[in-house]
Amino acid sequence: MENLKSLTDEALALVAQSDDLASLDKVRVGYLGKKGQITALLKGLGKLSAAERPAAGAEINRAKQQVTESLDQRKQTLENRAIDLQLAEEAVDIGLAGRRSDVGGLHPVTRTIQRIESIFSSVGYTVAEGPEIEDDFHNFEALNIPSHHPARAMHDTFYVSENHVLRTHTSPVQIRTMIQQEPPIHVICPGRVYRCDSDLTHTPMFHQVEGLVVDKNISFAELKGTVDQFLKAFFEMDVPVRFRPSYFPFTEPSAEVDIQCSACRGAGCRICKETDWVEIMGCGMVHPNVFKACDIDAATFSGFAFGMGVERLAMMRYGVKDLRLFFENDFDFVVQF
Ligand code: DAH
Repeated sequence: MENLKSLTDEALALVAQSDDLASLDKVRVGYLGKKGQITALLKGLGKLSAAERPAAGAEINRAKQQVTESLDQRKQTLENRAIDLQLAEEAVDIGLAGRRSDVGGLHPVTRTIQRIESIFSSVGYTVAEGPEIEDDFHNFEALNIPSHHPARAMHDTFYVSENHVLRTHTSPVQIRTMIQQEPPIHVICPGRVYRCDSDLTHTPMFHQVEGLVVDKNISFAELKGTVDQFLKAFFEMDVPVRFRPSYFPFTEPSAEVDIQCSACRGAGCRICKETDWVEIMGCGMVHPNVFKACDIDAATFSGFAFGMGVERLAMMRYGVKDLRLFFENDFDFVVQF
């Protein structure tokens, strides 16, 4: 009993020093286990006289309770520490930067078509489309290109059947529009066209945008003004434009339109073949035979039409020197626009 106080202090000190659950349990066994020192004191109570026993028993039990509480507290502390340690070790660093995914871009040909559409839409034109497999009537006949006409040879046509072709130009959409719609007509017709031709400056598939205006009193002056204003809007600069007399079966008179070469600004280069000018489209006044094929009275109405190559316009606008780049699907090329 004389040692009870120092025994208790010693036990409490050892509890406080225990740094893990295993050594803490050793302390518990050493004092409170079957052969523990405090347990031994309790067992020794029997040797005391009946008078001494209650007070001594109470005192030992108080010491036992004190050590038990201290053990429980320490156990709780060590368990919490173990959980904290585990949480820290297993933590996921959500601050790590993510992996970037690449964002695609619109193809320059798509961009160019959208740009042409928005310029013409802003002055009241609508957009019309037609089939890429076209019949002889719409692709040739109604456009004043009968079967014996030498212009057919110029078109390097892909034949799908005797009477059907992959359309060689977007001009057949003019015919479809005039058959379906009464004048006044203001349309542009973008789309793919096909020709059996492949070299540095030609691909078997390319894009055109056709334009058609039909109304009363439409003159060549309006055609010139429209084309000139369009090209200045498209290139966002006062680009020099010239009209050269030309021939197309479906227009009379006809012209080809050139712009000053944007690559060399008229100094002469490979793109303009040292001529300082680049041909950008064909155009003219709608031929009376074309009106006739579409049941439009040529005495009442007149009109103009034009057809431009989209890839050519895209090359000039973006400074692309090789046509084939547009069709190689090179991601690094496409995302630049
Ligand atoms: N269809 C012609 C071509 O593919 C381009 C063209 C020229 C369209 C004159 C027209 C036009 O509407 O009036 O070469």
